[in-house]
Amino acid sequence: MADTKIKCLNPIASVGLDLLGDKYEITDNTEEADGILVRSAVMHDMELPGSLKAVARAGAGVNNIPLDKCAEQGIVVFNTPGANANGVKELVIAGLLMASRDIVGGIGWVRENADDENISKSAEKAKKAYAGCEIQGKKLGVIGLGAIGVLVANAASALGMDVYGCDPYLSVANALNLSRLVHIVKDREEMLSMCDYVTVHVPLLDDTKGMINKEMISHMKDGVVVLNFARDILVNEADLSEALESGKVAKYVTDFPNTTSVKMKNTIVVPHLGASTEESEDNCAVMAVNEIKDFIENGNIRNSVNYPACDAGVCTTAGRITICHRNIPNLITNCSSVFSSEGVNIEHMYDKSRGEYAYSIIDIAAPSKQEMVDKLESIDGVLRARIVK
Ligand SMILES: NC(=O)c1ccc[n+]([C@@H]2O[C@H](COP(=O)([O-])OP(=O)(O)OC[C@H]3O[C@@H](n4cnc5c(N)ncnc54)[C@H](O)[C@@H]3O)[C@@H](O)[C@H]2O)c1
Repeated sequence: MADTKIKCLNPIASVGLDLLGDKYEITDNTEEADGILVRSAVMHDMELPGSLKAVARAGAGVNNIPLDKCAEQGIVVFNTPGANANGVKELVIAGLLMASRDIVGGIGWVRENADDENISKSAEKAKKAYAGCEIQGKKLGVIGLGAIGVLVANAASALGMDVYGCDPYLSVANALNLSRLVHIVKDREEMLSMCDYVTVHVPLLDDTKGMINKEMISHMKDGVVVLNFARDILVNEADLSEALESGKVAKYVTDFPNTTSVKMKNTIVVPHLGASTEESEDNCAVMAVNEIKDFIENGNIRNSVNYPACDAGVCTTAGRITICHRNIPNLITNCSSVFSSEGVNIEHMYDKSRGEYAYSIIDIAAPSKQEMVDKLESIDGVLRARIVK
């Protein structure tokens, strides 16, 4: 009989759900769910059932999930960073091309003239109005070299662009994935002053909100093309509108329609299609399901947004208990004493913290018992203890 119940708050690609196997059952009843799979459904006003141990968002953004409320109840929230990066990268490349060749205007002309019997001749006359330039040999500045930025930089470089990238927090893994042809720069202003195209791929944080503003635009080359496939509020749209009106910025390509962006001069607005590909949805579903399975079956945490990463592999001892807890002094000592009072030896112990919260995986020399969990949960600061084995 299936013992783990998963509730899907949105449709999740079957290639992911198929990985669950027969130890899991999809339920319609949220109140009995051990895990939730979600895409965009808003969970802020949801009552979170006591059975719920994990929420996995098939996608990167987690604005729809109450992260602190979940952390307080010992519910680990996962996301799927990078799973849709290739989908976004391909649309950014399309954005570079749309900004350079008037594909949008040209297709509009063809539609408007669909009834013209002589359209092939008329097109030869009309086409000069839609002429453009090539991207090969032009300079591209990439702000943010994460999962998406690295792929964009490499692809643009492969298309013959001269690519510069800047990321003050560049990870070793991302640096290793970057083509050797991409120049990493420390001085963002210097990069902006050289580039014909600037594309932004940073997360929305307090210090990135409105980062593309008058001041940053003032460092850019006259006639620059700005691309934003990250989040609309990274851009100060009043400042950008002014720069588009004056011609300082020649074109803006964005994935985010809003009441301002849809009316801005020389702007191409795509209706948030960055990750809208079958492959991105499949990748996100597979990653989300694998994260939930590894957590339920082994207690391991990979790609959580409210608890630290903690990977102890598969349990090879007689028992394993996991503990979601506050990051406070003495808590580990108090937890260890529960096992010694039961006469059980701790074989391995992993403890990781992240801000106010921490997580422990404790492998013990005897099978886990419910009394241990009850004692652990009575310790001040323990939010949830769970038997994995
Ligand atoms: N259009 C879409 O449909 C779509 C889909 C997925 C993601 N996104 C957006 O793209 C963003 C980037 O996604 P990702 O998967 O590459 O994220 P990521 O976390 O892998 O990379 C973000 C990078 O930005 C860097 N960074 C942070 N602050 C910076 C700063 N001030 N200057 C320069 N670099 C900075 C980080 O160090 C990191 O390397 C996401 O946060 C999301 O908002 C959009």
